[in-house]
Amino acid sequence: MIRSLSATTPRVYSVPKLDDYSSAALDRMAAALTSALDSESATVRSEQEWKSFRDRWLSRKSGIITQLNDLLKAAPKEAKREVGQRMNQLRVRIEERVAAAEKLRSGEESADHLDIALPGIRRPLGAEHPIIRTMNEVVAVFKAMGYSVAEGPEIESDYFNFEALNFPPNHPARDAQDTLFIAGQERRPQRDRLMLRTHTSPVQIRAMMQSPPPLRIVCPGKVHRRDAADATHSPMFHQLECLAVDSNITFSDLKGTLDHMCKSLFGSAVKTRFQPSFFPFTEPSAEVYVSCPFCGAKGCRICKQSGWIELGGSGMVHPNVFEAVRDYGYDPAKISGFAFGMGIDRMAALRWDIHDIQLFFDGDVRFLEQFA
Ligand code: FA5
Repeated sequence: MIRSLSATTPRVYSVPKLDDYSSAALDRMAAALTSALDSESATVRSEQEWKSFRDRWLSRKSGIITQLNDLLKAAPKEAKREVGQRMNQLRVRIEERVAAAEKLRSGEESADHLDIALPGIRRPLGAEHPIIRTMNEVVAVFKAMGYSVAEGPEIESDYFNFEALNFPPNHPARDAQDTLFIAGQERRPQRDRLMLRTHTSPVQIRAMMQSPPPLRIVCPGKVHRRDAADATHSPMFHQLECLAVDSNITFSDLKGTLDHMCKSLFGSAVKTRFQPSFFPFTEPSAEVYVSCPFCGAKGCRICKQSGWIELGGSGMVHPNVFEAVRDYGYDPAKISGFAFGMGIDRMAALRWDIHDIQLFFDGDVRFLEQFA
């Protein structure tokens, strides 16, 4: 059977001659042109096809774009302005479509040449920083004992960092924790002046203001001090604070909790030791030591031949601290509590036998990737 040509060959688009230059007629004409442009561009695959598509639409000799110019020329004077604007819009659309067809075609062509046997791009996986890892491990030990995690701001007021923790203004214990103060606060009362917090202990006050007793929290975070950087000091370091408050908390609870923490982190053979100390916010206060897990307390380079390693400060919460939060349900006559705070950076250094905590902050990938 012979089919008529018109049934099998799609009609090739050309710009129609117009008798009617009304907006509606121009709309119809633009819609027909756009639809032809879209369907023709969709058939472009090879470079040759793209070239003939481009010439058919853009060639100056007989391209559609030239037919659009002819249409403009033929338009009556009063319609010329609108026809001109519309022709310009169509011309831009044609140019964009021709460029897009080329982009698509060359993209597909290069995809055709994709060599799947080539090695892929290796994207290195990130890993937890050793300090964060150590912090998470300590937090996990406390979570298993029923503690929750509390956090506080790194920019802290004098009140929370010192005053509420029983460091009155000009108390000599402030000297050991000098820090950076925010400039231009001379007109503010001292208790409102802002600074980079020197320890995580202010989170104790914030947590007690938020929840009445009983309370069991750990507070991990960054702290800052005016300490020169050396193998065991950094001007920015990390601490983990612990606070337990209830109606009958005793020093034995503090000892038992710290002993359990040390055994969980360093193995069941280690022992803990307390040495009297001073902190304005605890009474009595003690430094906590763990027997050296590296030499079994015999004495080695890591424990400086002493058999013991210092972990941090601890003690029973001072009644003056409860006094600062009495209105939140903390009556020092009815409750008691223990607290301690330890340096995570030094603990991480111990754990991996690292001799200089500065290595944690240098950002040297060769060092850090050993923990990945
Ligand atoms: C305190 O900061 C007390 N807030 C701890 C505390 C909490 C005591 C609750 C009682 C009750 P201290 O200044 O000793 O205490 O610091 C605690 C630990 O932080 C130290 O044992 C040490 O491990 C670590 N540390 C102190 N300064 C630095 C520093 N510059 N760089 C790295 N680690 C440091």
